[in-house]
Amino acid sequence: MGTDREIVTLADVPDESTHLFRVDDGEDEREAILVRDGEGVTCWLNYCQHLTHIKLDKGSGATMRDGELVCENHGAYFDTGSGLCTFGPCEGAVLTELEVEIREEAVYLTDEDYTYLGDGPLETDDDLASSSNVEF
Ligand code: FES
Repeated sequence: MGTDREIVTLADVPDESTHLFRVDDGEDEREAILVRDGEGVTCWLNYCQHLTHIKLDKGSGATMRDGELVCENHGAYFDTGSGLCTFGPCEGAVLTELEVEIREEAVYLTDEDYTYLGDGPLETDDDLASSSNVEF
């Protein structure tokens, strides 16, 4: 496992939202998000700590308020630097962190527990069910 792989250029990590990508944790494919934190970026698995199947970034960027990540389902707030839930039903819980590094204006996944798969969300069964192959 582990790839030390470029995820995105630093300039393409949004200021007030998240960059969504996919990783393999050795057992499953998962979603992860990059978020700006001061001059740097942090990286978290894209799952709320209240209900862990709920995604913070549902495909068009996570909501942020006052510099914190917000879970839209029940309003939990997460500190972008520590991943700590500062408010909401899972207050005190912490998002799962992935190690990343900035080199020459690009963000690299350096976490040995994860392999980079690609940009964007995982394709789910729901997506498959809703995308019809029938042509009219
Ligand atoms: S699922 Fe995120 S706050 Fe409830």
